[in-house]
Amino acid sequence: MCNLLAQNLLHRTTRDVELNGYTLPVGTRIVPQLCTVLFDEEIFPEPMRFKPERFLEKKENGCGYKLMKCEELIPFGVGKRQCLGESLARQELFLFTANLFHRYTVRLLKLHHCLRAKST
Ligand code: HEM
Repeated sequence: MCNLLAQNLLHRTTRDVELNGYTLPVGTRIVPQLCTVLFDEEIFPEPMRFKPERFLEKKENGCGYKLMKCEELIPFGVGKRQCLGESLARQELFLFTANLFHRYTVRLLKLHHCLRAKST
């Protein structure tokens, strides 16, 4: 899962809000930035690296791993206005990825070989 909608949808405060010493009066338009959480080094070290293991934890019986519940993983937003299509999107992403790996063999690219082949 990635940070697909980094710039969230527009929201508006429904009452006066105090935030980090600032006052946001009722009716202020705000755009919550999901990336401030999704790219937070303290929550997700090396956030730009593809590390699926960060979402895995050891099973209680010690045999293998299971998917960890991670409250900070919020690509679909949070609260009452969070994405209505989340479950559909998750299924689509699963089917897309599963079919991709089913049909194709995915290998790491040996970059130095490619560069050599191109330069000759
Ligand atoms: C990977 C795919 C998707 C991602 C990452 C995503 C992410 C989001 C995010 C971040 C929001 C804003 C939440 C907020 O305002 O706090 C949103 C809203 C929404 N999304 Fe998605 N979305 C995805 C796919 C879909 C799909 C497939 C549908 C419908 C079939 C959908 C329908 C909606 C709707 C209707 C809203 C507005 C909800 C509201 O304001 O109450 N989304 N989505």
